[in-house]
Amino acid sequence: MNQGKYLNRRQFLGLMGAGVALAWAGLKPVSTAALTWRPQNNGRSAEFTPDVEIALRAVATQASILPGSPTRVWGYQGELLRGDPTNLQALPDSYLGPIIRVQTSQNVRIHFTNQLSEESIVHWHGLHLPTDMDGHPRYAIAPGETYVYEFEVRNRAGTYWYHPHPHGRTGIQVYYGLAGLFLVSDDAEQNAGLPTGEFDIPLVLQDRSFDGNNQFTYLSYGMGNMQMGHMGNRILVNGQPDASLTLQPGTYRLRLLNGSNARMYKLGWHDDQPLTVIATDGGLLDEPVQRDYVSLAPGERVELLVTLSELQAGLPLLLQSRHFSDGMSGMPGGGMDPILSNGDVFDVLRVQVAGDAPAHHTFLPSLMGGATAAAANAIPADASPQASTTAPDRTFRLSWENGRWTINGRVFEMEGVAADETVALGSSEIWEFVNEAMQQGGPSGGMMGPMMPHPLHIHGLQFRVLERSVDAGQMQHWHTMNEGYVDEGWKDTILLMPGETVKLQVQFADYPGLFLYHCHNLEHEDAGMMRNYLVQAS
Ligand code: C2O
Ligand code: CU
Ligand code: CU
Repeated sequence: MNQGKYLNRRQFLGLMGAGVALAWAGLKPVSTAALTWRPQNNGRSAEFTPDVEIALRAVATQASILPGSPTRVWGYQGELLRGDPTNLQALPDSYLGPIIRVQTSQNVRIHFTNQLSEESIVHWHGLHLPTDMDGHPRYAIAPGETYVYEFEVRNRAGTYWYHPHPHGRTGIQVYYGLAGLFLVSDDAEQNAGLPTGEFDIPLVLQDRSFDGNNQFTYLSYGMGNMQMGHMGNRILVNGQPDASLTLQPGTYRLRLLNGSNARMYKLGWHDDQPLTVIATDGGLLDEPVQRDYVSLAPGERVELLVTLSELQAGLPLLLQSRHFSDGMSGMPGGGMDPILSNGDVFDVLRVQVAGDAPAHHTFLPSLMGGATAAAANAIPADASPQASTTAPDRTFRLSWENGRWTINGRVFEMEGVAADETVALGSSEIWEFVNEAMQQGGPSGGMMGPMMPHPLHIHGLQFRVLERSVDAGQMQHWHTMNEGYVDEGWKDTILLMPGETVKLQVQFADYPGLFLYHCHNLEHEDAGMMRNYLVQAS
C-alpha cells in the first residue's frame, strides 16, 4: 500500500508528534500487575506460544450511565496476562468490554470465564478463525466454566469486535452490556499515515431504554419486539448518553461500530459536509471515498476521517442520524413505550473543537477517491441497479413464514446443516441473498406478511459485494438508504432493505467445519433467523 495515501509522510509525523502512546483522552491500559486469577488451560496445544494472553470474564456488575442510580449491567472484564500494555485498553466509565488491540499474525490466547448465571460464549465478529475458535453457540459454557481460545490473527488491520453468542440469549446479553472492540493493526495500515493515539477514536453506537430507576428495559413492549428487534429510546456512544467529545484541531480517525441490537443509523454531519470513509468491516479501502451519508446496520463498522479546524472552535459539529424509511409493514403496533423508531432523526455525537489549542494540525487527507465516490453515487434516483447476468452459486431467501423469520424457509438448528448449505474447502462462490418483498402469511396463505430490513452477517470470512438490485415496489424505501452503502471494501455484515437482492463473492479459504450465517438484528437471530454452513474438506 502506498505510504501517504491518506496523509502524507510529513503530516503523519506531525500527528505522531502530537499524539501520545495511549489512545484518546480517556483510554487507560489495563494493568498487567496483580494476577488475581489463575489461568487454567483446558488442554489445548502445548506448542501454541501466545504473543498476547488475556483473561476475560463476563460478570454481573453495575455502571453509572444516567444521573442517579447506577444501572445493573453485564460486562466483560479483562486482565492482560502476557503482552504489551497497549494490547488491552479500558473504556473509562463504560459498561463496554476492554478494547483488545493486536497485530496481524500475532498469536492470541484468551481465557474466557463465564461468571454470569446463564450460559455464554464469546464470538470474535469478523475474524477469520477455525470453527472451534469462532464462538459458535454449540460451545457455550455453563456458569463458572472457562473456554480457552488460541488463534493466530490472520485478518487485515481493521475494526472488529466481540460479543456473546449463546443461542436464544445473544440479544439480551449484548443488550445488558457484553460487547467490546477487537482492533487489528498491520504494517500496511501503519504505513498509511493515519491518525494514531488520541487521534484514533472508537465510537460504539448503541440504543437502550431505561425504567424510572435507571435500569435497562428489554422486550418491554410486547410480542412485536421479537419480530422487529428491540429499539431503545436513548442513544449511547461508548456506553454514555448525550455523548460529546472535545477535540483539538487536527485530523481524526473515527472507528464506528453499530453495536445496537436492531437499530440502523443513517449517519451524516449536521452541516452537510460529506463524510470521508476510509474503512469498512474488513479494514481499509483501497482509497478514501466520500458519501453524503453512511448507512450503518447492526454489526457493521465504518471508519471516517474528519479534519477539525480551529475556525470551528465553539461551533459544535454534530453527527446525526437522518430520516429514512425502513419499509416495514404488517407490524403489530408499538404499544406503550415512547419509541424512537428506525428512521427517526436524532443526534449521535457532539464534537466540540477546543479553542486556543496549542498545536496546528489542520491536515488535509489526500483524497484520491473522489472519482470513485462520484461514480458510486451517480445512480439516477429513479433507476434500480441493473439486474445482472451473473448466476449465483446459491440463493438464500430471507422471509417471514409461519410466524417466524426464516432463511430459505428454515430456522436455526444447533448442528443442523442442509446439503445446499455445504461448500467445498478452497472454493469461491457467488452467494445471493434476497430480502423477499412479497411474503406469504403461512399455511393459510394469501396474507401479506411483515417486511423489514435485515443486516445479514456471515461468520468466518470477509466478502466482497458484487451487486445489488431492488424490487420495483420497494424502491422508494431503498432510495432513502442506498447511497449510504459503502460496498467498495471488505465486508462481513451487509444491510438488505426490503425487496433488496445482493450478490456476494465469498471464499472458503482454509478452515473446514461449521460456521454461522444469520441476521444481525439480534432478536431475529435469537428467534432462529440463523443457519449453519459447512465447509467440507474433500
Ligand atoms: Cu456479530 Cu454471529 O455475530
Ligand atoms: Cu460474527
Ligand atoms: Cu432480520
